[in-house]
Amino acid sequence: KNDLYILGIETSCDETAVAIVKNGTKIFSNVVASQIESHKRFGGVVPEIASRHHVEQMTIVLEEAFNQAELTWENIDAIAVTEGPGLVGALLVGVNTAKALAFAKQKPLIGVHHIAGHIYANRLENEFEFPLLALIVSGGHTELVLMREHGSYEVIGETRDDAAGEAYDKVARMLELPYPGGPHIDCLASQGEETISFPRAWLENDSYDFSFSGLKSAVINKVHNARQRGEHIEKVDIAASFQASVIDVLTKKTKRAADEYRVKQVIVAGGVAANKGLRASLEKQFSGTNISLLIPSIHLCTDNAAMIAAAGTIAYEQGKRSDLKLNANPSLLL
Ligand code: KG4
Ligand code: ZN
Repeated sequence: KNDLYILGIETSCDETAVAIVKNGTKIFSNVVASQIESHKRFGGVVPEIASRHHVEQMTIVLEEAFNQAELTWENIDAIAVTEGPGLVGALLVGVNTAKALAFAKQKPLIGVHHIAGHIYANRLENEFEFPLLALIVSGGHTELVLMREHGSYEVIGETRDDAAGEAYDKVARMLELPYPGGPHIDCLASQGEETISFPRAWLENDSYDFSFSGLKSAVINKVHNARQRGEHIEKVDIAASFQASVIDVLTKKTKRAADEYRVKQVIVAGGVAANKGLRASLEKQFSGTNISLLIPSIHLCTDNAAMIAAAGTIAYEQGKRSDLKLNANPSLLL
């Protein structure tokens, strides 16, 4: 027997997701129940509401994942679940579901780091070549991770304050755009121009860390002051100027790290990897170099369970097992 079928479960934030993946590369099903509509009116994810929705949706999503895959429990070799980081109450629903299923169906259990999942989303479309550099940009994370082999993660840079997606969402809120704001800013930015030069936080010369709170505050102040003076603000240009600053820093730091560590591949992961401006900028930066750039299809950039199953497959192959004492860890390290 050679094929490995892993069931993945993801509930770290506001998507209830279950997927079945073969050999870490082929998706049999990838079901995502989004709660965005329930959180929209609050302008962000409400943890208590998220947990309740996960409880309501879990069995439905699980059944749908088996239906779409046309597989049964007999086919499943192991269960992979996001153990952290994320909202603790939300994570607990996934972790407890996975534990109950592992016990009832007598299947091995594997706890997966959410960011490892985002990275392995890329492997559902392209095989990895090491060393590789992963740029993770999501609502909760902005990190540069060096991988010298499967399952090994070295964080070489991370945000010192806001995550990139968080800055997008806060600026979007200031511009009175719906939650989550990232895609709306992206869309406006493509219609505007960089008329304002917002700050870029390069930090110390050799640092691969990021900082977006200064930029966020600069944008918010600009909009606030203009409103107070009764001046008209051109939303498309604010969006374009903000986005240009974010993309400039992300692209240049990623390129410098890729060169320094002589990587073969650069992979981009997380919700902000869906950003059209960022994709275009990175493509331009790496085209004509001997570093290949991988960015997952949009539906694999945002939270899903196929990526958890894909990362879980490698962990399984490397002999990693969790036991029924597995617990949700909201601040789990990669
Ligand atoms: O990875 P993800 O789905 O959830 C987390 O683990 O955080 O990322 C969600 C984040 C949100 O902040 C959202 O605004 C942002 O990704 N996002 C975008 C775009 N699409 C989603 N940000 C900028 N441009 C986009 N097109
Ligand atoms: Zn995520």
